[in-house]
Amino acid sequence: MRPTQAPTIRLSDYQEPAFWVDTVKLSFDLDPTATRVTSKITFRANETRADGPHDLKLDGRNLKLITASINGNAIPADAILQDAEGLTIPSDLVPQDGFVWVAEVEINPSANTALEGLYMSNGMYCTQCEAQGFRKITFYPDRPDVMATFDVEIKGDAPVLLSNGNKLAHGIWHDPWPKPAYLFALVAGDLKSYDDTFTTASGRHVDLQIFVRDGDQDKCAYAMDALKRSMKWDEEVYGREYDLDLFMIVAVDDFNMGAMENKGLNIFNSKYVLASPETATDVDFERIEGIIAHEYFHNWTGNRITCRDWFQLCLKEGLTVFRDQTFTGDMRSHGVKRIDDVLQLRGRQFREDAGPLAHPVRPEEYIEINNFYTATVYEKGAEVIGMLKLLVGDENYRKALDLYFDRHDGQACTIEHWIAVFEDATGRDLAQFKRWYSQAGTPIVKVREEFANGRYTLHLSQSTPPTPGQPDKLPLVIPVRVGLLAGDGSEAAPKQLLELTQSEQSFDLGAFDEKPVPSILRGFSAPVILKHDVDNATRAFLLAHDSDPFNKWEAGSAYASDMLVDMALNDGAIDAAYLDAIHAVALDDTLDPAFRAFAVGLPSEEEITSAIVALGEKPDPDAIYGARNALSLAMAQKMADDLPNLYTAMQVDGPYSPDAEAAGKRALASTALGLLTKLDGGKTAAKQFDNADNMTLQISALAALIRAGAGETQSAAFYDQWKSDNIVLDKWFAIQASCATPDAGLDIVQQLATHPDFNWKNPNRFRSLIGPFAMNPAAFHRIDGKGYQFLADWLIKLDAINPQTTARMAGLFETWKRYDKKRQTLITGQLRRIADTKNLSKDTSEIVGKILG
Ligand code: PHE
Ligand code: ZN
Repeated sequence: MRPTQAPTIRLSDYQEPAFWVDTVKLSFDLDPTATRVTSKITFRANETRADGPHDLKLDGRNLKLITASINGNAIPADAILQDAEGLTIPSDLVPQDGFVWVAEVEINPSANTALEGLYMSNGMYCTQCEAQGFRKITFYPDRPDVMATFDVEIKGDAPVLLSNGNKLAHGIWHDPWPKPAYLFALVAGDLKSYDDTFTTASGRHVDLQIFVRDGDQDKCAYAMDALKRSMKWDEEVYGREYDLDLFMIVAVDDFNMGAMENKGLNIFNSKYVLASPETATDVDFERIEGIIAHEYFHNWTGNRITCRDWFQLCLKEGLTVFRDQTFTGDMRSHGVKRIDDVLQLRGRQFREDAGPLAHPVRPEEYIEINNFYTATVYEKGAEVIGMLKLLVGDENYRKALDLYFDRHDGQACTIEHWIAVFEDATGRDLAQFKRWYSQAGTPIVKVREEFANGRYTLHLSQSTPPTPGQPDKLPLVIPVRVGLLAGDGSEAAPKQLLELTQSEQSFDLGAFDEKPVPSILRGFSAPVILKHDVDNATRAFLLAHDSDPFNKWEAGSAYASDMLVDMALNDGAIDAAYLDAIHAVALDDTLDPAFRAFAVGLPSEEEITSAIVALGEKPDPDAIYGARNALSLAMAQKMADDLPNLYTAMQVDGPYSPDAEAAGKRALASTALGLLTKLDGGKTAAKQFDNADNMTLQISALAALIRAGAGETQSAAFYDQWKSDNIVLDKWFAIQASCATPDAGLDIVQQLATHPDFNWKNPNRFRSLIGPFAMNPAAFHRIDGKGYQFLADWLIKLDAINPQTTARMAGLFETWKRYDKKRQTLITGQLRRIADTKNLSKDTSEIVGKILG
């Protein structure tokens, strides 16, 4: 078949299907290369589609059709029109008021390297159906607005045969809750389970099971505990109970994403389930907790209420991310969690929103939906929910959510339904607020202060830069939380929430004896870029006194960022007052160590780069790397006398526990170690490596050594110790690629790419080497272009077997326009080489095409 240009799918073209589905019965006869799938599907006419008679159109890819019948009558082969995307049965063979379709197909799970549909991972059968993988299992109207109950029968030798819903017998499953096909799942293999139970608020008994490979049972306790806490939290905070007799999680090694919320049978990338103190870091534990919660929360926000079409993806993802962020804040610390989330948002979503891949939270068109599982849909989508909650208040938010669950349970919904629920529950008109869903780009909010005749006024203005396809932007509703500080650092007025709704607006904040110091956008109350000329003395003041943890941190971070930009661009000097201020924060025992670790950690090279780009300048990766190194050396020297004590004070006694308090201390100890390593030639780090009894300490020591251009012995020892644990071995690849010095980086990753353990077909392993290298700016952006060539070579190679992961990684090139002409030419040369590759997937071709513009 000749490849044709892949079509663009548009939201404005949405039409309900001609037929709904009531029930699906699937029966699987498993075989690694020739699995047989029989489907029996009851179709019902969609009364609103009066434009009949309708053909029957079913999606299907890579399926070998064996037989098909309607109401028991075999359909002659020549009456079935089949192409690469599915089949059509002409309307004269289709009873228009409803019918039973039965088909048998054959599929080859072993040949499925794209990891969508039914595939094999380490000898186990496993499925991934979101967004459109079900069509690789059988013919079906594979769209989320078609919801049906599923009965599944699995025949195979494996001791464990799993599917969604409640278990009726070995390999026989019934899911009573109607669901779209993307939530279907099947797992079969020689798995062991780690079991527990949960009793819901109304007294329902639920069995909990985590399925893993034999030997991994001892790494499930933390995930199980996180699951139980999630279940309880959703009952307490959202009034949502679990709705089946059984909840299962399966860990798989080959997975394109983090995890998947299949009804009653979540499937996880094994690195987000398995954890022990020896193998997982504090950050891993926190991430596992967050992802377990995220997938569990989808049971209500995603599964019971799903999306009408894939343009509405943020309906489930933005809301569920917001829910998991709140959960983590409740489990740990809201202030620290907010800093962490904003760092992620700025590092990934602002970067996306400022480049060629920018798109609205609810996109209006796509070529390949897999390309829209983005930071914008997820993270900015969560910010939009957070703003909505701020604007309507906590009580109204809960009222609106109650109404949402009440009104839309069992439905496939849109953003319009979501907004209507808030309007109906609160009486507020949200027409303007809704622009957050349709307008791409990060708004810029400018601040001017005025203090005249004893009154203090804030003049705010907003503008959003053009993005691809959206040259002109309208004003948004921007909630701006503001505090005012008196000269002694106390709050000079009650906190306020300003609603910026116009392009320019002034807010009279009252009468004061002396000009207060404003703390603007507290808690990062909106995903915007704040432009406010603040002098360094004010920054130091806010860093010392702001009661809002986010803005307190932000003051120090902006201070450092300005200085680093000046150092990188103009050989600017290091400001001694900054060193004093940070020194004081580092040693301030009244502050949470986790907060101090963030405050002492310098802005990343990526952050400095985007700050330079925001000034209209070209970033020099080597100068940025150099500036950052110079500033951290100066910090180390400034704190030289205190670092050993701080390091010692932050050691945690007793057996390892991943709780927030202990993790915070280790985070600060690790920051201190990074600085100490600059002074002691790696002595302390080497000692920490040798004595480490947990992965957090072991890997932070190794990272400090590699960053200092040392650590060869330790790296070899680490490899020997962990070569048979893939999740830890991924860290070994990643740390070398991300911590490599600029000169050595390319050689190191080229070497590692020939390492016998570099199993590039495994997405985790591929990402662990290639991703961190491309995110190590000074190494990746070598002026000879060899870093770009390395990435492009690997993308071309991976695309042939796994388009989804390739397309995602191709996004690493999205920032090419930031750079100088020479680098631009080198990068676009590589992008064209990828674009010209024969048989390039539509996934990668959409992304590369957009990046090239
Ligand atoms: N829906 C999953 C989540 O966010 C993500 C995912 C998308 C996983 C597509 C696999 C494939 O929880
Ligand atoms: Zn999700």
